[in-house]
Amino acid sequence: MPSTVLVSTRFFDPSAEALLRENGLTVRRTGLPDDVQDDALDQAQLDRLLEGVEGWIVGTAPVRGELIRAHPQLKVIARRGVGYNNVDIEAARELGVCVAIAPGGNDASVADHALGMMLGVAKRLKESHRALEGGRWSPVVGMELFEKTVGLVGFGRIAQAVAKRLRGFDARVLAYDPFPNRAAAEGLGVELVELPALLRQSDYVSLHLPLTRETRRIIDRDALAAMKPGSILINTSRGGLVDEEALKQALMEGRLYGAGLDVFEGEGDDDSLPAIRELIGLPNVMASAHAAGSSNEGLSRTNRIAAQTVIDVLRGVEPPAQCVVVKGAR
Ligand SMILES: NC(=O)c1ccc[n+]([C@@H]2O[C@H](COP(=O)([O-])OP(=O)(O)OC[C@H]3O[C@@H](n4cnc5c(N)ncnc54)[C@H](O)[C@@H]3O)[C@@H](O)[C@H]2O)c1
Repeated sequence: MPSTVLVSTRFFDPSAEALLRENGLTVRRTGLPDDVQDDALDQAQLDRLLEGVEGWIVGTAPVRGELIRAHPQLKVIARRGVGYNNVDIEAARELGVCVAIAPGGNDASVADHALGMMLGVAKRLKESHRALEGGRWSPVVGMELFEKTVGLVGFGRIAQAVAKRLRGFDARVLAYDPFPNRAAAEGLGVELVELPALLRQSDYVSLHLPLTRETRRIIDRDALAAMKPGSILINTSRGGLVDEEALKQALMEGRLYGAGLDVFEGEGDDDSLPAIRELIGLPNVMASAHAAGSSNEGLSRTNRIAAQTVIDVLRGVEPPAQCVVVKGAR
């Protein structure tokens, strides 16, 4: 009997599905429209869908311990993406189910997005667009990225991809990371500095670090006050990294030139919308709804990484170490 894989994440493209089938696996889909995330399914529906399933490529549906426990045939839960906060990791570990992520697939997409936001905010494209829509031909005067100083907070995969792109702008690139990859910094001509020096000197500050207890609100009122006057903040990482109320004030007072925000602390929560609308309604803010990692190419790459991990586990092959959060024992 071929093993069955449940694919419940949205935007799973035909080439990744074909990869699973070519490897002798049966693919089960949820029947939800392709752009609807699987957290729309309740636990009873997930329970039914998981019947006989050995591999699960999951989106944002909560993977509770009781669900894992109810399906002893389940060997691998793969997330397309790098976060896994919706999976009960302790239960998976205790029950010997492999939990995997798909790192690296959308780095290029997020790096492009960060660059796009830097340029869009600096060139005031939102105001320009609105002015022309309102029939005003007078040009909106922006600022360049060329030869500016860009500070990257966090210097992992995505920040390195941003630094690579910035070479074309002859930018001076600074980075702060408590565990810096010195070889990558040297190779890309990036200066490693401490956070206060980065904030003081950068014309653009771009965040590329995870949200943890230590990094929550790393850009708080004090950090915003320490940023170079007239600089730009870009956040394509996680909403909780920035004190959004303090950012709004800094933008309204004109201390910052503008901000590009792809992520928000209250993402997906309707109660947070009024405050988010106030922030993104400012003329010097460009926003997107956690879309930085979403490109056709990025989704396709991450889908294939997730599919390959499931294939590996079901064949008894060890998946690449960077994909494994919990090693399976089933
Ligand atoms: N918006 C999106 O669609 C999207 C998509 C993918 C990733 N992301 C986010 O982008 C961020 C970066 O991802 P990545 O793949 O480059 O991660 P990564 O793990 O490769 O790099 C993160 C870096 O942050 C560093 N770091 C940890 N604590 C720090 C601190 N206190 N100060 C400064 N640096 C610190 C780490 O040492 C590491 O080098 C993550 O938050 C990730 O969730 C967002």
